Amino acid sequence: TQARINIAIDGPAGAGKSTVARHVARELSYVYIDTGAMYRAVALHMNRRGISPDEPERATEEMKQLQVELIPGDDRQSILLNGEDVTELIRTPEVSLQASKFAQIALIRETLVHMQRQLAERKGTVMDGRDIGTHVLPHAEQKWFLTATVEERARRRYVEWQGKEQITMEQLIKDIAERDHQDATRAISPLKQADDAMLLDTTYMSIDEIVQRMVKQANSILDGE
Ligand code: CDP
Ligand code: CDP
Repeated sequence: TQARINIAIDGPAGAGKSTVARHVARELSYVYIDTGAMYRAVALHMNRRGISPDEPERATEEMKQLQVELIPGDDRQSILLNGEDVTELIRTPEVSLQASKFAQIALIRETLVHMQRQLAERKGTVMDGRDIGTHVLPHAEQKWFLTATVEERARRRYVEWQGKEQITMEQLIKDIAERDHQDATRAISPLKQADDAMLLDTTYMSIDEIVQRMVKQANSILDGE
């Protein structure tokens, strides 16, 4: 059988991780795994139960009862909460901020990281998140850290949410800056570039350019084996 690798993609919100990861996975016939969706699903569930991120004990107890499933698909993955498909429901500005708050709770991270490692066990995955290269898959054969200016990242989100959410550019910049800060300063597995990750500032790069760079790099690793 052909050798396969794991590719880890980390970086702040709006850097282009999920778009790029999905394309790279398609080109290599790999499985794309969006770990952010898991944190979002947990946040949605806690909200529904009226549990706030300021109550880590309650959230921890609730997490023990909760079943989160990620079902990889050809183009899109599905995310299930106790069997309910919440793939669409987790894509809101509120859930984004809440996810970042619940993502600070130890048992929530441990549970999801365990699932993520299992999904990558047989290799051939492209996984994106905040701590993939540093913590989830420290031995990933290829690691990338994507960035872009906060203005550009907010602009990308603005374009995405136009017509769907009533949100201003100012509010988006504020939300993203708050999330960057929360994610980079938390105690457990903060957002950080792994020592052996390749840094790409995507502010002026097209999606296709980034994808081609990654695929080329992956092929050179595979050819070398
Ligand atoms: O996953 P992450 O939050 O890092 O970003 P994303 O959801 O992949 O990208 C946010 C938006 O920016 C998407 O609508 C992408 O199509 C767009 N994008 C872009 O216009 N140019 C890039 N170089 C990367 C992403
Ligand atoms: O797509 P976007 O970059 O806006 O966010 P996401 O990747 O869906 O992640 C939502 C939140 O989940 C992040 O702001 C992080 O706080 C958290 N997260 C995390 O802590 N670790 C990961 N591996 C992925 C997401």
